[in-house]
Amino acid sequence: MKKIAVLTSGGDSPGMNAAIRAVVRKAIYHDIEVYGVYQGYLGLINDNIEKLELGSVGDMIQRGGTFLYSARCPEFKEKEVRAKAIENLEKRGIEGLVVIGGDGSYRGAQRLSEEAKSLKTIGVPGTIDNDINGTDFTIGFDTALNTIIDSVDKIRDTASSHERTFIIEVMGRDAGDLALWSGLAAGAETILIPEVKSDIEEIAEKIQQGMERGKKHSIIVCAEGVMTGNQCGEELKKFINIDTRVSCLGHIQRGGTPTGMDRVLASRLGGYAVELLIEGESAKAVGIQKNILTRTNFDEIFQSEHSIDNKMYELANQLSI
Ligand code: F6P
Repeated sequence: MKKIAVLTSGGDSPGMNAAIRAVVRKAIYHDIEVYGVYQGYLGLINDNIEKLELGSVGDMIQRGGTFLYSARCPEFKEKEVRAKAIENLEKRGIEGLVVIGGDGSYRGAQRLSEEAKSLKTIGVPGTIDNDINGTDFTIGFDTALNTIIDSVDKIRDTASSHERTFIIEVMGRDAGDLALWSGLAAGAETILIPEVKSDIEEIAEKIQQGMERGKKHSIIVCAEGVMTGNQCGEELKKFINIDTRVSCLGHIQRGGTPTGMDRVLASRLGGYAVELLIEGESAKAVGIQKNILTRTNFDEIFQSEHSIDNKMYELANQLSI
């Protein structure tokens, strides 16, 4: 392998820059040329590709976002569009592509490896949602989790002063990991996640019982995959007469300096992706399971739905009485 490319795709996540840096430096260490593709798959189609040097990734490990930019590119589902991307890679003699993103981005990479004559592709899990099979953690999850915890802690101060119930809507798309982990870590009274059906009437009863015991305020963390925070507030009002406020944390969860955990994870996964390309692997994603670096076929990743840790959910409920 003499030339590889790297791109970031889908929603950005803190630590993507650290992952790009690892790919670039590890490749150059092994005398492999590296090309950066700007704007994800869009840049691959539009030939927005530049050679990266050691210095291109200097002063980058601590920065949030992605300096290669990211984009959602629905047109990449079309075979003719992908043919253009393959042409742009082949004319430079690029034999390997590292795609940092979510499982939607992996699907594009899988198609490329099937349709190009000799292109090898490796996926690196980059999303705050932590919803990709084949890895215990995705790059950006820990940073987003800490951003949410920080916000919930602050909201709890004012919730307590005003004796209010706060509903905090967090991201995660169809996955409840961000809500579950942040709810447990911030001591939320109620956690709503898409993986577990919740009964709003029961939640209202729990709040009522808490108030009768002298509880002055309450925090509900609601995953966006269940409903919006506002909808949750409306639903609750059907069963209980309380003063509620809603906070939708929004894109603040996607930004910021990556935590140490995310920088280390990104560096390990980025470096490992290059190792796999050197070994001749393709159509696989790297991951970390029980602190061991792993590789999983894209096919296997797409086979099952992402699931949450049920034991952790049970525990969060037991601790929030
Ligand atoms: O996948 C990351 C994520 O932040 C999700 O949690 C959220 O649902 C989505 O992206 C938002 O996407 P956009 O930034 O395109 O609105």
